[in-house]
Parts: sequence; C-alpha cells; structure tokens
Amino acid sequence: MLKPEIEDGQASLADPAFRHDVLQGFALRPRAIPARWFYDRRGSELFEAITDLPEYYPTRTETAILRECCADVARIAGTGRAVVEFGSGSSTKTPILLHAVNPAAYVPIDISGDFLRESSADLSAAFPGLPVLPVEADFLKPIDLPGQVIDTPKLGFFPGSTIGNMIPHASVDLLRAMKMSLGEGAMLLIGMDRIKDQTTLEAAYDDAQGVTAAFNLNLFERINRELGATIPVDAFRHRAIWNDDRARIEMHLEATRDVTFMIEGRPFDMAAGETIHTENSHKFGPRDARILLRAGGWTPVGEWTDPDGRFAVILAEAQPARLAP
Ligand code: TRP
Repeated sequence: MLKPEIEDGQASLADPAFRHDVLQGFALRPRAIPARWFYDRRGSELFEAITDLPEYYPTRTETAILRECCADVARIAGTGRAVVEFGSGSSTKTPILLHAVNPAAYVPIDISGDFLRESSADLSAAFPGLPVLPVEADFLKPIDLPGQVIDTPKLGFFPGSTIGNMIPHASVDLLRAMKMSLGEGAMLLIGMDRIKDQTTLEAAYDDAQGVTAAFNLNLFERINRELGATIPVDAFRHRAIWNDDRARIEMHLEATRDVTFMIEGRPFDMAAGETIHTENSHKFGPRDARILLRAGGWTPVGEWTDPDGRFAVILAEAQPARLAP
C-alpha cells in the first residue's frame, strides 16, 4: 500500500522551503537555520522594535550619516537615476535618499509581499508623481527590473549592513548579482557596520529589555506554529557572541536543559548547553569594506562615517569589464 506523503492537514499548510530548512538545520552539525525565516509578521515587528533600542546603534547612526551625506551622493551620482532598494522592508531611511537624488523612479525589492505593498503605498503618498515600482523577489538572485526603468541609470540602495548578515562568499555573490541586475553605469549606496569594542557589539545584539532575545526565540515559536512542532521554547536562551576571528556577532539559541521534541513527526534532542546558530552579523574595518566591494565588482568612490566611526555609508560604481589590471 502507498504511504500518503502528507499525513495530516497541518503539514500541507507549511511553506515547503521553511520545512526543508528547519528539518535539515536541526540535523546539521553544528545546527543552523537560515536567518530569512526570522521575518514572519511577528519577527518583522520585533525587528522594527530592535531598531529603536538604546543599545542598537546601527539604525540611528546610519540614518544620521545619510542625513549628512545624501547631498554629496546626489552630486557624485547625479539626479534622475532609478533608485533600486534591496530588501526594502519598512525602511525609514529611503525618504532621505529620495529627497536628495530626485529619482526617475523608485523600485523597492522585497521577499515579503505584505511589507512591500504597505511601504510602497506610504512612499507613493509621500512622493506624489514618483513612479513606485515594487518587485516581490528574492534579491539574492539576479532580478529582472520593471521595463519602465530599463534605459534609466540605476542607483542601488542597500542600507542596514544587511550585507553583513551573509558569509563572505555569499556577500560577494550578492554584490555580483546586484551588479548584473542594475546594469551598466550603475552605482550602489551601501551601509556597512564597523568593527568596534566587543561590549558595544554584544549589547547591540543582546539588549537589556530582551527584545532581541524575543526576536531570536520567535523563530522557535514560528516553527511550533507553522510546522506543528513541540519545541519547549522556555528551555532555550538567546546568546549573542562576538567571534573575533571571523569579525562577526553570532546569534544562537542555547538549550538550558536536556530537551527532546518533535518536528513534523520526527524526534530531535539537544543536550543542555548545545546551541543552534541562527544569525551572523559581520563587521568591517575600513579596508575590509572596500576590499569586499571590489571583490564583488564595485569600486568605492565615496565614503561617510559618523564622528565616532561606528558605521560607514559607501558609494561605489560598477566596475566596467577590463582586460588588464
Ligand atoms: N543587518 C542587521 C544587523 O546585522 C539586521 C539584523 C539581522 C539584526 N538579525 C538581527 C539585528 C538580529 C538585531 C538582531 O544588525
């Protein structure tokens, strides 16, 4: 007799890619789950709350830098480009750039359609007459931009040091994919968080109010909700650890006692002290940032930081193909 693929109605509701990543992630050693699964509705709300925390300096710092540098960006890049934002979320930084560079169009790209539609509507209201052309897509792959902007030179916008959430080889792949998507003569304005003292870094990813902990633990709540799993969430704690060798903050969920649980009918166990790795946030020295950009096919042409050098905003231009050094 044939065994049915789906044994209960619940399983059919889950995103198969989520199910795959979770089952595989718990079976891996070391255990790890891709960070993209943080961002369900609740996760996106918690992330918004993180950006307002006293310990979480990046959003505030980058916004202040953008207020100062966007007039220079407009001078170097020129006005009338199509601004293409990668992973637009519900960005509050975008209007600062749009006011300065007077774009021909704004193309927000996001994997979450709901967030994309909401933020596009807000931006359209704030910039009457500006064509807003949202694209629902995974920006890790090359993207076909809307036909209206094919012949318009592009200015990519990638704030928030999101580049740091990828391991170096994936971030180079992404920079190259962006170069392909944006086409000839493109420029890119990118935010990159700087290496700094460990205390500041660890506090930014483990705040006193526990919002970042709730954000990390929401991943397990989501697995329980969407995959009908039985992870005892109260048996886990959030950890944010600076890995100096790899220049990154690592986020983990650590079992505080021996646990066993089921995910989609399969048993898993973790001993007290074992963790699952959920996120990386790489930090960059000034040269690290520029080398990474060059490795991805972009030449830095402008760079701005806050007075304490905590965060950098870099403008780069797409390297034309060349034969010799
Ligand atoms: N790019 C941000 C950062 O690394 C976003 C981020 C991802 C984040 N995961 C996070 C921020 C967890 C706080 C906590 O800072």
